[in-house]
Amino acid sequence: MTATHEGAMRSSVGNPAAEKRGMNLTLRIWRQQGPTTKGKMVTYKITDISPDMSFLEMLDVLNEQLIMQGDDPVAFDHDCREGICGMCGVMINGQAHGPQQTTTCQLHMRSFADGDTIDIEPWRATAFPIIKDLAVDRRAFDRIIQAGGYISVPTGTAPEAHATPVPKADSDAAFDAATCIGCGACVAACPNASSMLFTAAKVTHLGLLPQGQPERNDRVVNMVAQQDREGFGGCTNIGECSASCPKGISMETISRLNHDLLGALRAGARPKS
Ligand code: SF4
Ligand code: FES
Repeated sequence: MTATHEGAMRSSVGNPAAEKRGMNLTLRIWRQQGPTTKGKMVTYKITDISPDMSFLEMLDVLNEQLIMQGDDPVAFDHDCREGICGMCGVMINGQAHGPQQTTTCQLHMRSFADGDTIDIEPWRATAFPIIKDLAVDRRAFDRIIQAGGYISVPTGTAPEAHATPVPKADSDAAFDAATCIGCGACVAACPNASSMLFTAAKVTHLGLLPQGQPERNDRVVNMVAQQDREGFGGCTNIGECSASCPKGISMETISRLNHDLLGALRAGARPKS
């Protein structure tokens, strides 16, 4: 034990508030055995949760408890737990990723109060079918990216740094769009289950750069056609997508997509069937 830990323990002796930091919570979690079975909310009690735990660590504690009891643990997706891979994501009290504008793995239990009841559900969208419990199939996003195809860039040694100048405003906007992690919160938050913010982010980060120009028109018409084929809804500019996006992708990217799409259609580009 370090001197700091010893000091912290000594200072908590006789101080009930410092000794008892754990939270007691009621969790109501969507349980569904498989894609075709009927699901339902199941209530669990969980005790002594540290406010410093992440939301996923809290679910880990619950799962350990369930396993010890011989019950089926709750299935949920995660990978990096650092807010960068986009794998995690659940509806928490009806909000995509919960009460903070961040990923579920970066949400901490201090965002809740002792005694709270927390509803936890999977993303709800036809294009994201439930695999089990809180895990959904988001491969529709992969197919939208795939529909965008390749970009033509010369291979070989790295080009000289200033060979292709890019205006600062364009490079900043392209970088901002490229921060989309494909989590799907925008779809889950949208009353239309639209994927426009995601598709717009992918279209924008290439459409603003010189390297993205040769296939720009084909890319936008094919990605938009694929998102329609996947069953995502249309965008009606509600803005819940951007408000729930952990990376703060702006509605402006949707305007860029619409601008690009119109230009591409006027230029005669048509989606591949
Ligand atoms: S636009 Fe935002 S909410 Fe939508 S997939 Fe990308 S990071 Fe997630
Ligand atoms: S687990 Fe990677 S973003 Fe949450």
